[in-house]
Amino acid sequence: MESYLVTGGAGFIGSNFVLSLLASGRDVRVVNVDALTYAGNLENLASVEDDPRYRLYQADIRDARAMAEIIAAENPRYVVNFAAESHVDRSIEDPGIFESTNVGGTVNLLNVVKSAWEEPDGGFGEHRYLQVSTDEVYGSLPLDDPSAYFRETTPLSPHSPYSASKASADFFVRAYGDTFGLPVLITRCSNNYGPYQFPEKLIPLMIRNACRHEPLPVYGDGLNVRDWLYVEDHCTAIDLVLHEGRIGEVYNVGGHNERSNIEIVKTIIRLVSERLDDPAIDDSLIRFVEDRKGHDRRYGIDPAKITAELGWSPETPFEEGIVRTIDWYLAHAEWVERVTSGAYQTYYEEMYGHRGAARA
Ligand code: NAD
Ligand code: TYD
Repeated sequence: MESYLVTGGAGFIGSNFVLSLLASGRDVRVVNVDALTYAGNLENLASVEDDPRYRLYQADIRDARAMAEIIAAENPRYVVNFAAESHVDRSIEDPGIFESTNVGGTVNLLNVVKSAWEEPDGGFGEHRYLQVSTDEVYGSLPLDDPSAYFRETTPLSPHSPYSASKASADFFVRAYGDTFGLPVLITRCSNNYGPYQFPEKLIPLMIRNACRHEPLPVYGDGLNVRDWLYVEDHCTAIDLVLHEGRIGEVYNVGGHNERSNIEIVKTIIRLVSERLDDPAIDDSLIRFVEDRKGHDRRYGIDPAKITAELGWSPETPFEEGIVRTIDWYLAHAEWVERVTSGAYQTYYEEMYGHRGAARA
């Protein structure tokens, strides 16, 4: 049996990861530790909440006592840290919570696992700690040099408070590996898309607004480029790195799928219009709005290392993944409504209040 402790498992990528592990057919146990901020939604995990292989703790990764108690009680072989504040626009409004959660929370978690896992001889047995990081730590690439990519050797040069906090966390993770011998791994992935993404991010926000005939706000000139990966391919890469990655290493994750924001928005308009058979959903909904402060121009991952060393490559072409994503959002209009109205935040009390669910 393989035991995982996943933090931030009620968020977008974390919930996809939890669901994919439990559906994998392998002998796994998954403990999910989530503070249930605005981005954590237990409705994502409704299908597994009664699964005996799954357990939820509502706890904050910054809380040393709670985290130590959970790790002692559950003794996971692996810790995968997804928990973070993840939205760049929010980091521009309120950088402090990004420093506190993403840096302070990570350092706290590293201390807790180090104390819990260290053996008398200084070794850490079969344990592994994986930090889910982002390509945004590398900064921004120019638009006029399409042959430039982020490689694992690219110096970190973050620009937003979000990416600065993630880069800082990465340095701490590496330091705990180098200084204490903690068996750490880091993945740096490009932009994800797919089911359960909070509709403050580009793709779900544009799908929602298009369905409602509301304006689609495109920042600046719309020519900023992001490298999009279907979330399941990211989850597969994380699990592969956890099992087969070389300890202490960083692995970039991406599939050479770069698109400008305006291209993404126009694709969404076309597909939503087709699927709803609604010609009123057209490019006239696009509004160019004030640019994001410090807006990174282009992200582009070179995934050569994970492909060569671990044989990973993405399985979902963008044309297929975007249709699947749009169809998921169209079929889950109620989920979107509850997320945007905030109603989902009462779900924990409704679903777990009477069960005396774990709360650290
Ligand atoms: P998300 O915002 O959807 O989810 C974050 C989760 O963390 C939520 O469930 C939230 O409740 C939880 N959380 C926040 N603060 C917490 C705390 N102090 N203690 C415990 N739980 C806490 O984020 P996401 O998009 O799923 O991203 C997950 C991770 O992947 C993040 O670390 C992010 O930096 C990284 N990442 C995201 C992308 C992307 O495109 N979304 C790409 C690369 C890397
Ligand atoms: P986002 O989904 O916030 O991801 P990130 O900033 O982490 O890459 O944004 C993706 C791109 O889309 C980014 O260049 C900003 C842009 N964007 C818009 O143009 N309009 C929007 O309403 C949002 C949310 C993002």
